[in-house]
Amino acid sequence: MIQAVSHLWLPFTQMQSFDASARTFVRGDGTSLYDARGRRLFDAVSSIWTIIHGHSHPAIVDAIALQAATLDHATTLGATNLPAEALAQALCELCETDYAFFAGDGASAVEAAIKMALHYWQHLGETRRTRFLRLVDAYHGDTASAMSVSDIAVFKSRYGPVTFETRPYERADDLEAPDVAAVIVEPIVQAAAGMRLVPIEHYVPLRNCMPLVIVDEIATGFGRTGTMFAYEQLDLRPDLIALGKGMSGGVLPLSAVLARERIYQAFLGAPEERKQFFHGHSYAGNPIACAAALASLELFALEGTFERAGSIERVAGERSATLRTHPAIREIRQAGTMIGIELHDAQRAWPVTNALYELGHFTRPIGATVQLVPPLSSSDEDIADFFDAFSEALERTN
Ligand SMILES: Cc1ncc(COP(=O)(O)O)c(C=O)c1O
Repeated sequence: MIQAVSHLWLPFTQMQSFDASARTFVRGDGTSLYDARGRRLFDAVSSIWTIIHGHSHPAIVDAIALQAATLDHATTLGATNLPAEALAQALCELCETDYAFFAGDGASAVEAAIKMALHYWQHLGETRRTRFLRLVDAYHGDTASAMSVSDIAVFKSRYGPVTFETRPYERADDLEAPDVAAVIVEPIVQAAAGMRLVPIEHYVPLRNCMPLVIVDEIATGFGRTGTMFAYEQLDLRPDLIALGKGMSGGVLPLSAVLARERIYQAFLGAPEERKQFFHGHSYAGNPIACAAALASLELFALEGTFERAGSIERVAGERSATLRTHPAIREIRQAGTMIGIELHDAQRAWPVTNALYELGHFTRPIGATVQLVPPLSSSDEDIADFFDAFSEALERTN
């Protein structure tokens, strides 16, 4: 039996009321997590939008074990390794981009993308292009630049002194300002804003604009919205694409910025010109994480992941249509397999989530919105069971 947490400080968690003995995970298998009390939980939030093919998938476990025994880690500062090379090629082919720059967590990819955009304009001699635009209600992570291009007050208001000012992108005119370096957007759905759906028309001016377009696919990438990447549905050709979370199948920290040729070219020069990108993370391009990512990419075809995702989307859509008539429900928003169930009463969101846990479903609310973002390997029954449990949770918290 695992001891209660005593020295662990958890992210986004009020530790004073946290009871580790009630929520300690000891095993994962497929769409299930098992806690120290022996309860089985459906991972209804894919461990915060990471897990794609289920927990401890044998193909990913094997790839990790083989790579760990072959080459565990080697820095990519001035050196390369075979899994990182292969993954860069696979990602560039998938996204029709030219280069992959690896980082660690999603926020570190966003940091890299922001610095890359700023530095790119300096290389072009356009030094006034220093401003960043972002969507209203944006979320791009918790490091300083990522917070700066985010817009959720409760996550960033305390950290004003370490962030910089950014402007909202609300209309096409905003893109015309001569000081704008880049606009960063979450495609289709803003997950951290409670699965807020962005109208497709909002992205149209980004198809042809002067500032660089950074698309943040960290939450939406790797099949969650029905296509491999959500921006594919928007007819966008981003200059930079940030990837993370599901890239390694969701099992190891790995993120990347994909860049187009013209951006990469701007950083080339003789060593004494010092034009290289001054950014790097110790574990960037870690061979084990890259091997996991390559195994995960193969599983999409081997396991018919997109067909499964289509079925999840359909079942969730049908069940939402019924649940939405419940008087406690304000709105249900869905983009592919990313679903937000918003309650009228935000105070009820945690009690409903806790009741769901007791009923065998693990998720988290964002404000008044309870999330269902299941692994793409979930069965139709998993999804139907979640909706049944949700109705029961509403009864129990009435
Ligand atoms: C759209 C988006 N960008 C960036 C991030 C930050 O990723 P990470 O938590 O891996 O730093 C998140 C995390 O939820 C996200 O949803």
